[in-house]
Amino acid sequence: MGVALDWPGKDAAAALSTAPPQASVEIPEADHLLIAGDNLDALKLLAPAHAGAVKLIYIDPPYNTHRRFVYADSFSTDEWLSMIYPRLLLARDLLTEDGAIVVSIGDDQSHTLRLLLDEVFGAENHVADVVWQKKYTRANDARFFSDNHEYLFVYARDLEQLAMQGEPRSEAQNSAYTNPDGDPRGPWKATPIHAKSGNDPDFTHTFSNGVVWSPLPGTFPRFSHERLDLLEAEGAIWFGRDGQAQPNRKTYLADLAERVTPTTLWLHTEVGNTHEANTELKDLGLGGVFQNPKPTRLIRRVLQLFTGPDDLVLDFFAGSGSTAHAVLLENCADGGKRRSISVQSTDPVPGDSAAAKAGFSTLDEITAARLRAVAGAEPTVVRLG
Ligand SMILES: C[S@@+](CC[C@H](N)C(=O)[O-])C[C@H]1O[C@@H](n2cnc3c(N)ncnc32)[C@H](O)[C@@H]1O
Repeated sequence: MGVALDWPGKDAAAALSTAPPQASVEIPEADHLLIAGDNLDALKLLAPAHAGAVKLIYIDPPYNTHRRFVYADSFSTDEWLSMIYPRLLLARDLLTEDGAIVVSIGDDQSHTLRLLLDEVFGAENHVADVVWQKKYTRANDARFFSDNHEYLFVYARDLEQLAMQGEPRSEAQNSAYTNPDGDPRGPWKATPIHAKSGNDPDFTHTFSNGVVWSPLPGTFPRFSHERLDLLEAEGAIWFGRDGQAQPNRKTYLADLAERVTPTTLWLHTEVGNTHEANTELKDLGLGGVFQNPKPTRLIRRVLQLFTGPDDLVLDFFAGSGSTAHAVLLENCADGGKRRSISVQSTDPVPGDSAAAKAGFSTLDEITAARLRAVAGAEPTVVRLG
């Protein structure tokens, strides 16, 4: 039995998920759709056609930091929970049986959100809490800690059926493989022929070139005599550049799986950081109009793990539209045809904001502008009210 989270207004919040939508609008079919309006209504209006059809939901809700951004980010905890709860309930029904939801969050609400996700999706469907290094410089003006990371909470609709792939091998991982001896099997990396456990610590092997090898004290042979002879005959043992050094096995890049098991620690060097995300907006002519965008590399990593080329992706806290952007980039990279639905409220931008100075009146206009800039065409937008 899990620990249930309770707060004043919880029942009323749950009831919002079953109340009829305030808007009645036909949701059009489109490869990349932007719904401009409240996501509570949007999720309800998506249900008839898309229940059980969304492979990945990625959301980055307001974190409740009580700081002043172009979007509202200051709520009481009760208000914040009452906002997110009915939306999570509705979101769950949109996921495919093998789908997943990934939720970005910071310290302000991570503890409450984690319990709520356990309740809505089931603690048994929790996949991982990923830590993302959003920033790499130290904020020396911070009062206590320089806040350099946040989380991505990952839940499966049904852990037993979850379709998850490994992470593509990176260039950095591949660069450890070289070919100093011009081996026709291509780049390789020297790996030990001893093991940390095993038997026969007194093992001694004499290679045909006269090199004699024994495992170092406290280690054991990884291969039998027969296997070592075979590897040597294949040219898969490396005796250093002079041909007489202590042997290593050549592990070939070509023999490795193309994907590796992802870790729960996502470094900015691999998936980007907030600075990079701001630069991405600037490069689209949208510099400074939106705070805290996510880098597309971060969302592409999520897409790589949880989607295939024909899947539908939903982000109902779309902000500047980084998820749709990432979907387009990932499709370009792997020839996929992933579709995306973004939902962004039509809240007005503050009059003194950079967004207002850039000519935007409402937040959804920023999302639309990014989609337009990235796709080079007018996005399909449906307005809920
Ligand atoms: C943290 S931002 C998302 C940033 C986004 N991931 C990006 O990379 O640009 C949260 C967004 O959710 C939007 N939002 C908040 N409540 C909403 C609601 N009820 N319906 C639709 N959008 C909402 C906010 O206006 C804000 O743009």
